[in-house]
Amino acid sequence: MHHVSLNRGDLNDARSGRVPPGAVLGSDAAGVVSQPAADGSGPEVGTRVVAMARGAFADRAAVEVDALAEVPRSVDLSEAAALPVAGLAALRALRAAGPLLGRRVLITGASGGVGQFAVQLAARAGAYVIASVGSAARGEGLATKGADQVVVGLEGLDQPVDVVLDNVGGAQMVAAWELLATGGNLQSIGWASGEQAVFPPYSTVGPPKTLSSFLNEGEAGADLATLVRFVADRSLCVEIGWRGSWERIAEAVEVLRSRRLNGKAVLDVRPLAPIAPTRACVNPASAAP
Ligand SMILES: NC(=O)c1ccc[n+]([C@@H]2O[C@H](COP(=O)([O-])OP(=O)(O)OC[C@H]3O[C@@H](n4cnc5c(N)ncnc54)[C@H](OP(=O)(O)O)[C@@H]3O)[C@@H](O)[C@H]2O)c1
Repeated sequence: MHHVSLNRGDLNDARSGRVPPGAVLGSDAAGVVSQPAADGSGPEVGTRVVAMARGAFADRAAVEVDALAEVPRSVDLSEAAALPVAGLAALRALRAAGPLLGRRVLITGASGGVGQFAVQLAARAGAYVIASVGSAARGEGLATKGADQVVVGLEGLDQPVDVVLDNVGGAQMVAAWELLATGGNLQSIGWASGEQAVFPPYSTVGPPKTLSSFLNEGEAGADLATLVRFVADRSLCVEIGWRGSWERIAEAVEVLRSRRLNGKAVLDVRPLAPIAPTRACVNPASAAP
């Protein structure tokens, strides 16, 4: 393992008792193959890979071959480590919401790990992207990543939206539901607010629209390869808002919990050569013709 990245789900797992005491947490891993699959189906020793792997917060992890993707030299492994849980959630929730060309897509919690990827992927799919954040400062940089509109909470939004990707839950999710157009779909990805959601009487009665629960499931490899390809051609930008040694994980957790993290926190598992300077990302949706 060279790098791992932190997800809000890791905090939930640690607190919820869903994992047995002493279990190794973590899902996002990037590193180098030290032992290939016995049946020869996976990449060979020395291949740079990214994986969605249970127990990623480790020096080494055994990973299913179809849960990983190769990482070309042009992509830093620290960037790759940020992709699995958040990048896949963004990609798959957008795909589950249906065709996006010309659709109005509202993304809540857009400053976070899932949100930053979702804004860029929705824009490249041709959506009109509305990024909802907690404050103007939290929305910095989202317009250049493809957001057509950056709003604080849902302030000023009165036109219906066709799709909602909801990362926040609670009262904001209920308000987003009320903005949803007939035939629209809300993908409930996460509940970062932890707040109760109360639907007013009759708010779920009327012209049909759907709320879908979302779970990142299924083999990760092919979709991870897609994300890696986008990063390699710099059409997908990986926002790393915090980076440091794995020994400073408590600091990274605090930054995430206190809503001071833009994008992802990436932890270095072993000392590494200096990172190559990051090349600018150009979202195809905002690139000049
Ligand atoms: N279903 C799945 O398979 C799946 C997969 C991945 C993630 N998730 C879940 O999806 C959610 C988003 O994940 P993420 O990685 O993007 O998390 P994150 O990086 O922590 O981002 C969440 C965002 O929610 C916003 N937020 C609004 N109210 C908040 C509150 N009261 N407390 C904390 N944050 C608040 C924050 O933005 P502002 O500060 O700008 O408001 C924050 O940037 C999490 O709940 C995560 O567990 C689920």
